[in-house]
Parts: sequence; structure tokens; C-alpha cells
Amino acid sequence: MYQLPSSYAPGDLVSTSTAALNSGYSVRSIITADLRAMAMAARDAGRPIQVVSAYRSYTQQAATFDYWVSIGGYQHALLTSARAGHSEHQLGTTLDFTSLGGAAPWTYSDWASTPAGGWMAANAWRHGFVMTYPRGETATACYSYEPWHYRYVGKPTAAAVHDSGMNLREAIWAAHGP
Ligand code: DAL
Ligand code: ZN
Repeated sequence: MYQLPSSYAPGDLVSTSTAALNSGYSVRSIITADLRAMAMAARDAGRPIQVVSAYRSYTQQAATFDYWVSIGGYQHALLTSARAGHSEHQLGTTLDFTSLGGAAPWTYSDWASTPAGGWMAANAWRHGFVMTYPRGETATACYSYEPWHYRYVGKPTAAAVHDSGMNLREAIWAAHGP
């Protein structure tokens, strides 16, 4: 089983405002140049995006998971939220987005069907981000479809994942083994 220790926190967290996005959330500084370029490209395309979650500490993830348990019960929470130590959000390289000024993305029937969500689905990989949990891949991606959740893996890897047709977990396992 893979997990991060409760003590793990990136040492280079900066505000998402450094990437031309709303403040109030943190990401690793190593992703801000590409994140900024993506945010500006989305804006230039008339599809502006907004951050609704980014880095979450182990403690915050524990609270997030407990929240989803309170909403839908433990078994349902396992499909929609990572247990503490198992979330890409603890890496500081993963963000949840919605449309600028929009509602929480999970309240849409399918955020990827909105202008901003559709732009992200088509273009995020060009900026080094992949949708970790695509539609219809719960069995292999391990979580329900999350069209708002993007992890930064860098442009070469994002392009390779995009071209492979695999989801990120499948691609990592294909490249490195489970
Ligand atoms: N919602 C995703 C799976 C997370 O909690 O990291
Ligand atoms: Zn997320």
C-alpha cells in the first residue's frame, strides 16, 4: 500500500495567486509557471477557471474524508475522497477547479460539460496537468469520476499519458510497475 507519512508536507508551498489564480490555496512553487500559463490560456479562451482546493495537509485530508463520510457514509466516501495519507492533494501538485465564479464543481452533473470544464478536459495536458480520475474508470483509477481534479506531472509525462489513453494510475504502473 502506498501512502504518505502524516509528517509529509512540501517545503516550497506558495499561494495560487502567484499563478494568476484566486488566493487562499497553496501549491508547490515548481508547478506555478505551468499553472499560470494554463490559467491565462483558459482566460484567453474565454473559459476562466478558479481554484476550489489545492494543497491539503494530512490533517486537512482527514477532515475532508470525515466530511464526505458524514454526507454519504463510509463506503461512498471511499469512492470520492482519499483517506489521509492517500491523497494527491497532500503532494501540493494537485488542484480542484471550477469555472470562475461558478459553484463547487461536484454540484454540476458533469463539470467537464461546462465551457471551462470542457476546456480543461481538452487542454490541461498541454500545460502538464492530467485529470487523474476520468469518467468510467473507477475500477482502475480507484475513485469516481472527478472532472475537476488535476494533478501536475509535467508536460512530457502529461503528453505521454494523454497519448496513451490510459489513466494516470495505469500509466504509472505501466511505466514503473505497481
Ligand atoms: N477526491 C480525491 C480522490 C482526493 O481526496 O484526493
Ligand atoms: Zn481533488
